[in-house]
Amino acid sequence: MTDLRARVERVVREVVAELTASGALRPGPAPETVGSRTPLVAANWKMHKTAAEARTFVAKLRLSDGVETVLCPPAVLLPVLAAALPPGNPVRLGAQNVHFEAQGAFTGEHSCAMLRDAGATYVVVGHSERRSLFGETDHDVARKAAAALRAGLRPIVCVGERLAERESGATFRVLRAQLTASLAGLGLPSPDPATLVVAYEPVWAIGTGRNATAAQAQEALAFLRDRLAELFGHAWTRGVRLLYGGSATAKNAPELAAQPDVDGFLVGGASLDPAAFGAILAATAAARRGREAG
Ligand code: PGA
Repeated sequence: MTDLRARVERVVREVVAELTASGALRPGPAPETVGSRTPLVAANWKMHKTAAEARTFVAKLRLSDGVETVLCPPAVLLPVLAAALPPGNPVRLGAQNVHFEAQGAFTGEHSCAMLRDAGATYVVVGHSERRSLFGETDHDVARKAAAALRAGLRPIVCVGERLAERESGATFRVLRAQLTASLAGLGLPSPDPATLVVAYEPVWAIGTGRNATAAQAQEALAFLRDRLAELFGHAWTRGVRLLYGGSATAKNAPELAAQPDVDGFLVGGASLDPAAFGAILAATAAARRGREAG
């Protein structure tokens, strides 16, 4: 049913595009300009690196103009990175997880305020490893996203289907359900759409060396943008950055980043090496320049 709906929506989009091109339909409000969303590339280091290794990474990393760079180390390394980054540098820090309560008896957890205090401005919520290995539900993810926004942290909300779900044609049903439930109760998150980031991370592509094709990533992200528009309105949703994650590398980044709804990447394995990560930043910047020119 959902796949049928997705197909119908695609056909409607094509018909509208044709009618608009023929002049039969007047174009709607302010068309989306790719330049309105600053690309964002986030490194998810997972449970990797010591303080010394984190400092070495920062010393070697080459940034690219026009791309917002976010490093998400293990939480204990946030203050290490904050101290290692030169004053006034544009790199932003993010945490990989957060607890939704402000404080209390939650052994091993960190609150939003603690993460902010440690230097984070972003926080990844609902990563598939948190969902599958630590039993996080969509409801937990929604509470974390809401707590982050309340505390002034920008959530990077992750969704993505498993291989069996893709193979059985359930991808869009899963994405719709996950996104809706993971953002439940947020209302309009803030006047600034850049405060919300959504990452499409197909589970079968994470850490497997098998990335989604550019067409698969674009199709999924366009679908998610449409769902976001249903929740938050078209105008606001135009400013939300949508990332692709799952075996992103310097090699596949150019084609992926050239897609209209791919606004950057959430990078695991390839983010551990400063040269490989820097190459993804450079590819993203180049793709954005290409989109703006073309
Ligand atoms: P990967 O991980 O790039 O190693 O596939 C991505 C992620 O888990 O965010």
